[in-house]
Formats: sequence, structure tokens, C-alpha cells
Amino acid sequence: MKIAIIGSGYVGLVTGTCFAHLGHAVLCVDNNKDKLRLLKQGKSPIYEPGLEQMIRENVKEGRLKFTASIAEAVRKCELLFISVNTPPKENGEADLSFIENVSQEIARNLKSYRLIIEKSTVPVQTGEWIYKTIRARAKHSLFDVASNPEFLREGSAVHDFLKPDRIVIGVSSARAEKLLRKLYEPLKAPLVVTSLASAGLIKHASNSFLATKISFVNMLARICDAAGADIEQVARGMGLDPRIGASFLKAGIGFGGFCFPKDLSAFLKMSERLGMRFDLLQEVLDINESQKQYFVRKIEQAVWNLRGKKVGVLGLAFKADTDDMRFAPSIDIIAALQKEDVKIQAYDPQAVSNARKVLSGVRFVKNPYEAARGVDALLVLTEWSEFLTLDFKRIRKTMNRALMLDGRNLYNPADMKRLGFEYHSVGRSVPAQLA
Ligand code: NAD
Ligand code: UGA
Repeated sequence: MKIAIIGSGYVGLVTGTCFAHLGHAVLCVDNNKDKLRLLKQGKSPIYEPGLEQMIRENVKEGRLKFTASIAEAVRKCELLFISVNTPPKENGEADLSFIENVSQEIARNLKSYRLIIEKSTVPVQTGEWIYKTIRARAKHSLFDVASNPEFLREGSAVHDFLKPDRIVIGVSSARAEKLLRKLYEPLKAPLVVTSLASAGLIKHASNSFLATKISFVNMLARICDAAGADIEQVARGMGLDPRIGASFLKAGIGFGGFCFPKDLSAFLKMSERLGMRFDLLQEVLDINESQKQYFVRKIEQAVWNLRGKKVGVLGLAFKADTDDMRFAPSIDIIAALQKEDVKIQAYDPQAVSNARKVLSGVRFVKNPYEAARGVDALLVLTEWSEFLTLDFKRIRKTMNRALMLDGRNLYNPADMKRLGFEYHSVGRSVPAQLA
């Protein structure tokens, strides 16, 4: 099938490359010239495990091409995916202007039947708006609009796309359903066929529910700290109940990324518009914000006075295996420390170039050992697996004080103690003799 992907970011580029891998002819569209230049050289503008190799292979086979022209995409491809960004506005609503711009451009170029598939995460009535926008400007009504929300996670995006738990398609015509069934048939995944509105709601509800689990476990972790219990034991004891499930019960410094924070805010706003107060979601967001400050307070308690201290940071990305800094908890934690005149030196394996754009006054260093040199405390803010196998004796020796605050519960407290560190984590403040 001939497929265009309009918006070649984290979702669009993975989607396009994976469809090409499945044998389709794919045209990825983006209006960012720097991204297109890199892509045309066979380089991935984002760090996503396995993606760059796959881009190169499919470009070489002639199945994956790149362009800046939506007109070309509409002319050549029957299936047009929209996967542009939907950033939050000041008031928390999703900014849908990128979607509208693309819809208008599609309308101007529509000559024969096209299926327009909404893949960005959007409020429930967006499909209707896309339809109305195109219908008002196109010369004919030979088109369908469908919704196909994406559930991939950054860091495992290629795997998630090719081996999905489920594929949700929201359709309003038999023709659209037939085309999407054919497109996804090779993935052999459970297909949930719904109305456009239900498909959009499934996406917002799924992200909101996962974020709720995280805030729940983070609040529980604070209770564990206060009560002398261990959140890992509590989460395991809960998670073995299949009705609860073990995933998304990892306590830490709160959720970040381009998805949960903005999607929850957008869902909250959309519920308000529909006349509903979804206060639970506000509480989930509030707990998430205060979780970062909770960690900052832990740091303060451990160093006594923050003012004038030097702190090393291991990990900046919002989670491991990505270079994405959007809404990363590290941003707020570092800002809170800098407000107290704390000097920061930080290391991240992949996110430094994006971090430079959002963090100022930070000294970025080339490896974890430089991050630890001469500091009063070392913080773990992203759970990169390379942090598991560091030479901790070397690290301890170069630190001003052997104090480690682990925001991702990466290490075993007893091991850290044996290695000579004063070690604090989240929800695991069990006195050693009772652990
Ligand atoms: P992104 O910012 O990485 O990518 C969006 C791309 O669209 C950018 O490259 C931008 O240049 C391009 N673009 C914007 N306007 C354009 C236009 N008029 N013409 C051509 N290109 C245009 O964003 P993303 O992370 O890929 O997210 C895209 C959507 O998918 C969002 O709604 C997001 O919520 C949703 N989503 C993201 C993820 C994720 O893991 N990042 C997962 C599921 C869903
Ligand atoms: C999330 C969802 O998992 C995807 O299904 C969805 O497609 C995507 O959002 C989206 O809609 O864009 P992603 O943001 O890439 O994917 O990453 P997650 O693995 O879900 O992690 C999100 C945040 O929650 C990270 O900051 C992570 O550190 C945090 N987290 C996750 C926890 O603090 N504890 C957990 O147990 C799990």
C-alpha cells in the first residue's frame, strides 16, 4: 500500500519506518528542514534503539522516502497518517493548530479518494473537526477520516509498533475499515474497531490510567518512607494480583515525557468542556508535581543546607533509552536546586544535546565519573542501565561526600551501604536492621 506519514517525529518516523519494513511504500513528510536533511542522509534525528538501522535498510530498498511536501503525499498516497505534535497550550488544552494546518493542506490537494488517519493524541471530537475542515475546502467528498491512536513507548518504540498489545481503529465507513484491516493484518494483533470518538477516548483513558497508577505508587512510596516500609515489597505484593498488575508500579520522581503530563491536562480540559469535573486526574497531576519537590526535600535533608553545594546528576532524559527531554522530571528538580545556588554537573548518555536547549547554568560532562568528581551529593534521575555497572569505589573516592540520592530506586540499599555510601532512595527508608 502507498502510505504517507505527515509529521515525522518520535511517532511518525517509527510508524513510517515500520510500515516500510512490512513492505509498504512510505513517504514521510516533515516541515522541519534540519530533520529532513538528516533523514535524507540516512540518519535518525532522534535516539530510538534499532530505528536508524531500520531507516537505512528501508531507504536502501527504496521503500522509505522523505519530503517536505504534503501536496506530493496527497498526490501519491492513498493512506495519509497525521502524526504531528499536539503540544499543550498555556491553559492545558491540546493545541490542535498543527492538525488543522495539515488538514487544510490535504484539502487543497485532494483529487481522488484518500483515507486520512489521525494518529496524534487528540481530544475526542478532533476526527469530526478534521472531516469538517477538509469537507469545507476540498472540491469533492471522496475521502474518509479514521482514528488510529498510537500506544508505543519511547525507548522500545520499534518493538511496540511491530508487536502491539492491540490496534485501535476508529472508523465511520466500511471502506476505511477494510483498508485499515488490510494494512495491519501482517501484525496479527487484536484489532479493536470502534467509532472515531471511542478510539480517541481509549487513548486518553489508557494514558490517564497508567499515570494514575504511577501517582498512586508514588504517594504510597511517601507513606512507606514515613512508616518504615519498602515500596518495592509493597508494589510486588500488590502487583501479583492480576486485577492490579505489576507494571507501572515503580516509584520514583514522577512521570515525564511528551505524553502523560500533556495528555492528562488535555483530558481534564476536554472533560470540563463536556461538563464533567474529572478531579481524580487533577490529583494525579498534583501528586506528580509534588513528587519532584518531595525528592528535592530529601536532597536538602541529606546535605543540610543546599546553598553553595555542588551536586552531580546521572541521567537527564525523562526515562531511559531515549534522548527526549520533554517534561523530564530532571528539569524541575535541577531548577529547584539552582534556585538555592546549587552548582550542577550532569551526565546523560543520549540526552545532552536536547538538555542544553532546556537547562541553563548546568555543566555537562562526558561520563558518570566526571559527574561525581568533587560533589557533595550524586543524584540518579534516569534509570539508564549503564549506571548499574559503574565502578562505585572509583566514584566514591572522587566525591566530596559519599552521598547518593537515587530517584529511580536503581540500586540495592544494602549494596550501596557496603560500598560506603550514605544512600537514599524513594519509599525504601527501612532501617537496615529491619530490612
Ligand atoms: P514530535 O514533535 O516528535 O513530532 C511531530 C513532527 O511533526 C515534528 O517533526 C514536526 O516538525 C512535524 N510537523 C508539525 N507540523 C507539521 C506540518 N504542518 N507539516 C509537516 N510536519 C509537521 O511529536 P511526537 O512525540 O512524535 O508526537 C506526535 C503525536 O503523537 C502527539 O500527539 C503525541 O501525543 C502522540 N504520541 C506520542 C508518543 C511518543 O512516544 N512520543 C506516543 C504515542 C502518541
Ligand atoms: C507512554 C505510554 O506508556 C505509551 O503507551 C503511550 O503511547 C505514550 O506514553 C504516549 O501516549 O505518547 P512513554 O511516555 O514513552 O509512553 O513512556 P513510559 O514508559 O510510559 O513512561 C512515562 C513516564 O512514567 C516516564 O517518566 C517514566 O519514568 C515514568 N514511569 C513509568 C514511572 O515513574 N513508573 C513506572 O512504573 C512507569
